Amino acid sequence: MELFLDTANIEHIRHGVKLGVISGVTTNPTILSREGQVDYQDLVKKICSIVPGPVSTEVLSRDAPGMVAEAREIAKWAENIVVKIPANLEGVEATSVLSKENIRVNFTLCFSLNQALLGAAAGAAFVSPFVGRLDDIGEDGMELVADIVEYLDYYQLPTQVIAASIRHPQHCLTAAKIGAHIATVPYKVLLQMIQHPLTDIGVERFLDDWKRVMGEKTERFPTKP
Ligand code: E4P
Repeated sequence: MELFLDTANIEHIRHGVKLGVISGVTTNPTILSREGQVDYQDLVKKICSIVPGPVSTEVLSRDAPGMVAEAREIAKWAENIVVKIPANLEGVEATSVLSKENIRVNFTLCFSLNQALLGAAAGAAFVSPFVGRLDDIGEDGMELVADIVEYLDYYQLPTQVIAASIRHPQHCLTAAKIGAHIATVPYKVLLQMIQHPLTDIGVERFLDDWKRVMGEKTERFPTKP
């Protein structure tokens, strides 16, 4: 499973890319607004230049012609741009038009298998089920991810599933187990994923044992000339 970062924060994106584990980024108007009143286009272009893979950014238009016009402009910003289109009727129409023009669409705000089915049929490159928001209303977000993965796999459709609205490391774990192609994670969750107290205790113990015999100053393995 690939990992994308669900943020527009440049510092966090640079760090994720430096770690070598982040292959894409997803944004939305809420995420972009967290960076303050910046130039939206400049910020997204900058993200595209830092990240090796797909960078999703969302249209603001509500009707299909508006979405298509906006997406066509956004698609010119960078090679690796992906346009987020909402999973509603206008969005299906817009996705059908855009996919025929080879503009990659991330069919977003997806909360049902039927929505995913229509997004895939319209030619979306990605479909994004929002796990955390479904959990919030007492549904099982990961069950939806599993259903979409199974459906796309059964019919051998090229659309990739991005498990979105990830809230904690357990979500990542489950997404990987059920075969989501991608999980887009907040920076905080990325940092949480690597944490384990036994690793920290283990590192400390190894160093204590080493220093007890070798002395305080030998903090690295000596290299022989
Ligand atoms: C990703 O594409 C979505 O924009 C994001 O995961 C939404 O997450 P939220 O439900 O925490 O706002």
